[in-house]
Amino acid sequence: MAAWRLLELLLLGATGVWATGCGFRPEYDSPSPSPAPRIIGGQKSRPGEWPWVVSLQTQGHHFCGGSVIHSWWVLSAAHCFHDIRPQDVTVAAGSVTLGMGGVTRRVRRIVSHPSYSRSTYDSDLALLLLSRPLPPGRGLGLVCLPGEPAEEDDGQWGSCYVAGWGTTEYGQERGSGALREAGVRIVDWLRCMWWIGALTQNMVCAGHEEGGRDACQGDSGGPLQCQAPQGSPWYQVGVVSWGRGCGRRQRPGVYTRVANYRAWMDEAAAAAGRPLRPQKATPTGLGSAPQKTEPEVAGGARPCPWRPLGLALGLALGRWLG
Ligand code: ARG
Repeated sequence: MAAWRLLELLLLGATGVWATGCGFRPEYDSPSPSPAPRIIGGQKSRPGEWPWVVSLQTQGHHFCGGSVIHSWWVLSAAHCFHDIRPQDVTVAAGSVTLGMGGVTRRVRRIVSHPSYSRSTYDSDLALLLLSRPLPPGRGLGLVCLPGEPAEEDDGQWGSCYVAGWGTTEYGQERGSGALREAGVRIVDWLRCMWWIGALTQNMVCAGHEEGGRDACQGDSGGPLQCQAPQGSPWYQVGVVSWGRGCGRRQRPGVYTRVANYRAWMDEAAAAAGRPLRPQKATPTGLGSAPQKTEPEVAGGARPCPWRPLGLALGLALGRWLG
């Protein structure tokens, strides 16, 4: 075990702070990375492989997935909460087998995106504020969030996986008791539009032309997670949202494009009193520690290239109009 990892573990134990950056899987990738064996057409995941994937349950039943993006916050899909109140939801984290082990938390607040549309599924995402923060370690981890949309290039992602406890066949009643995963590729937006239609710019498709590997019912709210080159952190590119059947040919799964909502997520979390990134000039508490360690990785400090352009254009236009 590398010395820095030992130090990190010690730190974790001693401080209760999430010292590890986002997107890494300490209990899976080290010390000797084992090749991942490769939902619909997928396979069982291994313990620690997706330490940020959580199960959302009501009265002991799994109904949707989610992902840990901060010790206080879980990201999921807005359509999961049509008829559900926060007090009815339990978050089960840090376990791959439903109902066994891990850490559970109640939900204090559900913040669905204000523009979420039940008819188009546009802006299908929601933030869940937990009753108490999740502890570091214990098989838990944070997934990284992609930066501003202008910086996202779908070609940058190497391998992507969707994971969840959803059904392994379309139309099945029961989901899977074990967390499953399927390797998928991001599908060009125009091509996906051609195949399934009804997409908005806030959606990203992933799957395979020939079908076979996909998310399905019960996987909603879970992450589409991608890694750029091998060994780099995992980013959540999408939230499982909808599909036409599951795993069909030329019918990739449709996901909410997380990068488009980065600003909203930051605002919503800050407004609820638990900011995702540390506010300037305030001592960082427990909750904001992870972001502090990797503002670069989380895409925090990078400027949006379009803003100065817009400003310049506005100025020029203002001058021209007199
Ligand atoms: N809406 C579904 C759910 O609530 C997710 C469907 C995803 N379908 C797909 N083919 N990728 O669980």
